[in-house]
Amino acid sequence: MCGIVAYVGPKDAAPILLEGLQRLEYRGYDSAGLAVVNGKSLKMRKVKGRVSDLAEAVPARFKGTCGIGHTRWATHGVPSDVNAHPHLDPEHRVAVVHNGIIENADALRQRLEAEGVTFESETDTEVLCHLIARAVKETDSLDDAVRRALKSIVGTYGIAVVDAQRPGEIVVARNGSPIVLGIGEKEMFAASDVAALVRYTRQVVHLEDGELAVLRADGFHTFTSDARETAKEPFTVDWDTGHYDNGGYEHYLLKEISEQPDTVARTLRGRIDDRFHIAHLGGLNMDARETRSFRRVKIIGCGSAYYSGQIGAQLIEELARIPADAEPASEFRYRNPVVEPDTLYVAISQSGETYDTLAAVQELKRKGGRVLGIVNTVGSAIARECDGGLYLHAGPEVSVASTKAFTSTAVSFALLALHLARVRDLSPADGRRICEGLRRLPEQIEQILKLDEQIKTLAEKYAHSPSMMFVGRVRGYPVAREGAQKLKEISYVHAEAYPASELKHGPLALINPDMPTVAIVPDDELLDKNLTTLGEIRARSGRILMIGHRAADAADDCVVVPKNETELDPILLTIPLQLFAYHAAVALGRDVDRPRNLAKSVTVE
Ligand code: G6P
Repeated sequence: MCGIVAYVGPKDAAPILLEGLQRLEYRGYDSAGLAVVNGKSLKMRKVKGRVSDLAEAVPARFKGTCGIGHTRWATHGVPSDVNAHPHLDPEHRVAVVHNGIIENADALRQRLEAEGVTFESETDTEVLCHLIARAVKETDSLDDAVRRALKSIVGTYGIAVVDAQRPGEIVVARNGSPIVLGIGEKEMFAASDVAALVRYTRQVVHLEDGELAVLRADGFHTFTSDARETAKEPFTVDWDTGHYDNGGYEHYLLKEISEQPDTVARTLRGRIDDRFHIAHLGGLNMDARETRSFRRVKIIGCGSAYYSGQIGAQLIEELARIPADAEPASEFRYRNPVVEPDTLYVAISQSGETYDTLAAVQELKRKGGRVLGIVNTVGSAIARECDGGLYLHAGPEVSVASTKAFTSTAVSFALLALHLARVRDLSPADGRRICEGLRRLPEQIEQILKLDEQIKTLAEKYAHSPSMMFVGRVRGYPVAREGAQKLKEISYVHAEAYPASELKHGPLALINPDMPTVAIVPDDELLDKNLTTLGEIRARSGRILMIGHRAADAADDCVVVPKNETELDPILLTIPLQLFAYHAAVALGRDVDRPRNLAKSVTVE
């Protein structure tokens, strides 16, 4: 999704902006650009393509110590040089970069065109640029001009603006699209993601929706939309550039899959209490009485976050015996949900920025719902919006397809389920069983990673299938869904996930030798039922790759993973499917870390 970087200080801005844009590449984009203020004029370059193409297009003499940069993910208008940001007014006085969507752009464009303005691009952003360029002539401060222009805007934005007449000053504003300020030594940065800043500073400030900031080399001021100054407390991010390096791996995805013994250990660290066999979750901000009062749990998230929420719902029902279910955040927010006082709502997000999830949380809060966040990015919008929650501590996830955040979310749910269960009826003995199971996870993930060669061979065998079916029952079902999601996201092989028992109610008609099935078959009370399903597939000449705890004759191929406590098995069963999708994508020559049409964090509706 689009990225923003801005710099003002004593140094040349262009190299810093280019480096920042490179750090944002992982979010997904189709074009890139930058503008710097030099003396009282603007220099600008923008290209369709990669940040490396932009770097080549920027001449050696591209001086200016104040500038803004952007990576664009097309929404209004095709990916092209002209539609790329920054956008400039005809006099080349104002330059604007923008993330988000201006919903009333068409109406504003028509109005401006009627007044004689000519547009160069098809973008919504250019509308905003013209509005600001008009306003700067009517006022003596850039922030005031931006504020005036934003008054006409309906929609979401994170923006950065420079004015050639005011060198040394950048104005940024946020509404629904993140903006983070980075505080340096006599220099200031801003970006849509801390990834672009950590090379230069760890001291950051998040803007709230409706806030605007003025940056100069010697510091910053923040304001509300009606120009009242706000007080901000900087905080220190603990992610550094090392987290954003590929660590010698060929792809970030493989690096992140391989990190899971550590990331799961980090999610667990300090949270298991061996005296009472409970989970310590200080961030929930709830006492035991309140924790007991919930009669239902509703989990919301998007994409893989939603699937990990489904694992979470099952863990909560099974351990705490509280009815729980997961739903895509976008569906939830659009169906005017009934919000109940005795329901605990849990929002999940790796990035903490996903617009649909954030909007669902805001809808819940507006209706008085109690919302916890299970989030990876400290200080992100969703984390700030929630009443409490857990951070994953998985470190930044760079590859678009989620892996380590998925497992850490599932582990967080196991902790939350244990917590909810032990203030209810789960016995100390069962609490202990789960605590011990959780502690075994990192070591068992290590063992699964050793199956890499076997899984690679299998992936190469199956990758050329036109389509694949993924099936599982109960605990295996969300695992199957996530497995199918990983495969389609990065290898573009069509994959469908079904509850194993539903196969005979329709999709069995699709089974033939060209449509292999990946079956999730844990060694649990449903083992026999699952083996029957394998028989049904086999009888239709379907090939079967089974992921389970023991080999079965009905399957053509089996990946055998270590057994944990039955409730925790889904976490481990997911990992072979991540490796399977990875190797299938490599075998098919795909751009593993940057799959087509997808973005790491989707900050638009
Ligand atoms: C995008 C990504 C998915 C991710 C989803 C939710 O669609 O491509 O991989 O699962 O967003 O992201 P979040 O940051 O909220 O977990």
